[in-house]
Amino acid sequence: MIAVNRFAGGGVAVLGEDFTDRDLEREEIARSLNTPRGHMVVTGLRRMGKTSVLIAVRDALVAAGTPVVYVDLWTASTIEDMVTRLAAAAAAVLGRTWTDFLVETGKRLQLSFEVSEAAGGTLVPVPKVSFRDAPMAAQRQRLVDALDMLEELAKRHKTHLGVILDEFQEIERLGGDQPAQAASSAQARANGQTGRAGAKVSAMRQVRAAIQLHRHVTYVFAGSDRRLIDRLHAEDGGALHNLGRRYDIGPIPTQHFAEWIVEQFAAMGIAASDAGTAIITLAGPRTRDVRTLAETVAELARPTGAVNEVLIAKAMHAVVRQRKTTYEADWKQLTTVQQNILRAVAAEGTGLARKEIRRKYGLPEASSITKALDALTDRAIVLRDDRVVAFDDPFYRAWVLTALLPDVGLHLPITHVPQP
Ligand SMILES: Nc1ncnc2c1ncn2[C@@H]1O[C@H](COP(=O)(O)OP(=O)(O)O)[C@@H](O)[C@H]1O
Ligand SMILES: [Mg+2]
Repeated sequence: MIAVNRFAGGGVAVLGEDFTDRDLEREEIARSLNTPRGHMVVTGLRRMGKTSVLIAVRDALVAAGTPVVYVDLWTASTIEDMVTRLAAAAAAVLGRTWTDFLVETGKRLQLSFEVSEAAGGTLVPVPKVSFRDAPMAAQRQRLVDALDMLEELAKRHKTHLGVILDEFQEIERLGGDQPAQAASSAQARANGQTGRAGAKVSAMRQVRAAIQLHRHVTYVFAGSDRRLIDRLHAEDGGALHNLGRRYDIGPIPTQHFAEWIVEQFAAMGIAASDAGTAIITLAGPRTRDVRTLAETVAELARPTGAVNEVLIAKAMHAVVRQRKTTYEADWKQLTTVQQNILRAVAAEGTGLARKEIRRKYGLPEASSITKALDALTDRAIVLRDDRVVAFDDPFYRAWVLTALLPDVGLHLPITHVPQP
């Protein structure tokens, strides 16, 4: 059997067989983008499926004739890169009909455009590389000017434009007055740290001041950094306060997702009647993680064409084996207290401050536990919600369960899931 693995695909999910659910989310976001001043802040944990939803919305609106500009800011190194990306995305969507306007308004930004054969004969901006070194205040102003340019384009063309800024928290992170060195900035991001201490100027505040005057452009800001977004939304002076509705992209409903998984297996000639729920239980609520486990299950099921619990556990082991080197490197950076806490979280999930739990895992008193949990949260290894602590990555948890709990005399199966 050489059927293609239907769970593979590391990028965004593409509408069709690769994509399931999210009708409601797509409808809501599309409606916002079509509404003047209907700005929205889309949040959701990493790997949940935000980008996939946003791209699907963009494609549907563009196909229906509504111009929508989508930019992913995650990999931008400077604010000026964001300006270039915005101009490029705008040219791609508007280019054919709005060429003159774009070139003309772009001039004020000192952005020239040229027709690129490499980009399929479309108009692309030619950035002045020197702007990438411009002082931060100037770069922030150029971003605001670029957004104003989009408003002017839409106004003059008597139309409404949607702009989606994915991973928009990078505006705030890169737009402070003391941009971190590239390396430490990447480190901070890998660690999931929010904002930069000492960055007094809020770039998002400047963006907000501009776009709240816009009547022809509606914005969707999307991001996973919950703490930063909370801060930007805060009533006492948050840059996004009252600007737009907050909208969360949560897990795909379990039953629906489970049925979809079973259908994909069936299309590959694999019988997996109730494997869907088992896979979701083990991989947790994030769309990407569920697909990762399902993909490996499908590979292991090829010879027999059937899935059972033993095979799912085997697949879990296989994913953990692939990632083990990364997890080991990560683990070596932690303090002993942090390591012991992760052991406890993997097995127990809650009640870490209880006396018998502290004794069992060698944990210090409550205040030190809290401090260590803060550090683990900053590193994006764990997530905290009220009293529950959970691993961000279910495969990291599985690695701790199988490789590190024996150190404290616990031998749990890889399928062990702590009960809340
Ligand atoms: N609606 C969906 N149906 C099926 N798979 C999806 C769906 N949404 C996301 N995925 C899968 O999950 C992974 C993560 O999605 P992505 O949109 O990049 O999440 P986020 O932007 O929240 O980090 C993608 O690789 C994609 O394959
Ligand atoms: Mg994304």
